[in-house]
Amino acid sequence: MSANTPPSAPPGAPPTSAKSARPIRHATERTLDALLLKGRVASLSYRLGGLGRVRVTRYSVALGAGKALPRPLKIGFASDFHAGPTTHPGLFDDLRLALEAERPDLLLLGGDYVSFDAAYIAALGGFLGGAHAPLGTYAVIGNHDIWNGRAPVEAALREAGIGVLVNRGARLAAPFAHVSVCGIDDPWTGAPDVDAAFADAGDIKLFLTHSPDGVVLLGGRGYDAAFAGHTHGGQIAAPGGRPLFRPSGPASGKYNYGRYDIPGNGPLFVSCGVGCAGIPLRLNADPELLICTLSDPSASPDIVF
Ligand SMILES: [Fe+2]
Repeated sequence: MSANTPPSAPPGAPPTSAKSARPIRHATERTLDALLLKGRVASLSYRLGGLGRVRVTRYSVALGAGKALPRPLKIGFASDFHAGPTTHPGLFDDLRLALEAERPDLLLLGGDYVSFDAAYIAALGGFLGGAHAPLGTYAVIGNHDIWNGRAPVEAALREAGIGVLVNRGARLAAPFAHVSVCGIDDPWTGAPDVDAAFADAGDIKLFLTHSPDGVVLLGGRGYDAAFAGHTHGGQIAAPGGRPLFRPSGPASGKYNYGRYDIPGNGPLFVSCGVGCAGIPLRLNADPELLICTLSDPSASPDIVF
């Protein structure tokens, strides 16, 4: 997230990943790392329900006129894992079980795999190794990954067979070869390039961005469904889900959690993520597996002859 973190660089700026470039943040994270007792506080919070319970949220999208699918496409999306002392790895096991029950055709991952140190990606290794879907698993990178060292995080994703879409697009296998996943670098701490992400994209486009701010970088480019995390739904929210904290950014504060129908474009789905940033606590913002089913209304299975 970063509910408490303002954007640090404009789009297009060169990415900065060295901890030495942010000495105050680095010192704060080292202090928190020590105070959280190498994950023992998160372990206690998990056992007491303080990290919430993984739940599945479902959405459906009917494609616009002229766009066709051979059958409905079931997409899974999970984001903001924050492996490290703020998140007990039991949450990753719970998420894996939810995925095994849902069996999406395609799995998208929204970034922020670690907190405090890229080496904590090891705690997520078991989940990543099993995060497979028939049409593939694709990922973007988040601001916490960049702050803590994107290279080892990206390497771990690739070693798990996950496609890293940093300013890249990928077409799905047949019979969905006209469907592309277009991913950008983190909108504020990376160097997003939407032209590269959408180059050679198919007729149906799924836009993957760590933060909702990615939608303001599109410059009129259209998509059929967009997926973002970053906001954690506030991570700590009032009953009913009103976040007590909202991240900065032109879209992250406004599009904090749920479905937003963007004028002139497709729907944006913002997940409240899985893990915790800062402190091992979620309140009224449960860890989430988002399931979105994309369908072609002209091929409705509800027609009975
Ligand atoms: Fe996050």
